[in-house]
Amino acid sequence: MADIIDGKAFAAGLREKIASQVATIKQQSGITPGLAVVLVGEDPASQVYVRNKGKQTVEVGMNSIEHKLDVSTPQDELLQLIDKLNNDSSVHGILVQLPLPSHIDEEAVINSIHFDKDVDGFHLTNVGRLSIGSEGIVPCTPLGSIMMLRDKLGDLSGLNAVVVGRSNIVGKPMASLLLQENCTVTIAHSRTKDLPQVCSEADIVIAAVGRPEMIKQDWIKPGATVIDVGINRLEAEGGKTRLVGDVDFEGASKVAGAITPVPGGVGPMTIACLLHNTMQQCCRLNGLDVPQV
Ligand code: GUN
Repeated sequence: MADIIDGKAFAAGLREKIASQVATIKQQSGITPGLAVVLVGEDPASQVYVRNKGKQTVEVGMNSIEHKLDVSTPQDELLQLIDKLNNDSSVHGILVQLPLPSHIDEEAVINSIHFDKDVDGFHLTNVGRLSIGSEGIVPCTPLGSIMMLRDKLGDLSGLNAVVVGRSNIVGKPMASLLLQENCTVTIAHSRTKDLPQVCSEADIVIAAVGRPEMIKQDWIKPGATVIDVGINRLEAEGGKTRLVGDVDFEGASKVAGAITPVPGGVGPMTIACLLHNTMQQCCRLNGLDVPQV
């Protein structure tokens, strides 16, 4: 049976470290890091995320600023708010919760955030920095995944890593980070031929496709490390729902060396990394030493 990688415990440890870094920043400079989160509309999943982000931001000693806008808010109004936050020296991180309503151009909004206040790592400048391996902000979910991999495996050099999924939020930045760790990286996707075969050669599998339990036991090489980024809500008995990942956990955990569960794996790490990114941007904006992970 595989070792279960406890993302919840890992995230709690990371938050403790961040809280102590925040305390040092306050003591040395008098600055309290501030994270502004903007939510447009009332998508239930987004509301849950935003609430959790706000709560955990305060718990590590940072200021949380929330802006909730009506679903019909014109794009110009959202851009004006971002301009205001860009120029507010008490705000060090700006996150606009995605997805945005269809009348708003997501790319225009993301790139209107100052790149040194971008805590998602989605701004083109930060995407470019990651792709050439220079210092910048790394998207939260891939960052959390790489932290758990390093903790579990130590040096990743020379390992075969297969990333299933090619999104801008997870797949592509994940591949860049694994390459920086000297892995041999394959990005697989919906058009990949013989996906089971490709996965079965991986020492590390990153599942980020958004398809419930798609990756099966016999796709996993014995002893491989499996990071499941998927969060899928399935109907369960009695009208309830249950969360499952992109990996068939029950099957895969019989052959993998280590695996992240859903829930309790990558999910908790994402918000902890958001707090880490906010703390880093606060240091960058104020000319303080930027603590690394
Ligand atoms: N919606 C779901 N995940 C994310 C995320 O990581 N960042 C933002 N901005 N929106 C999201």
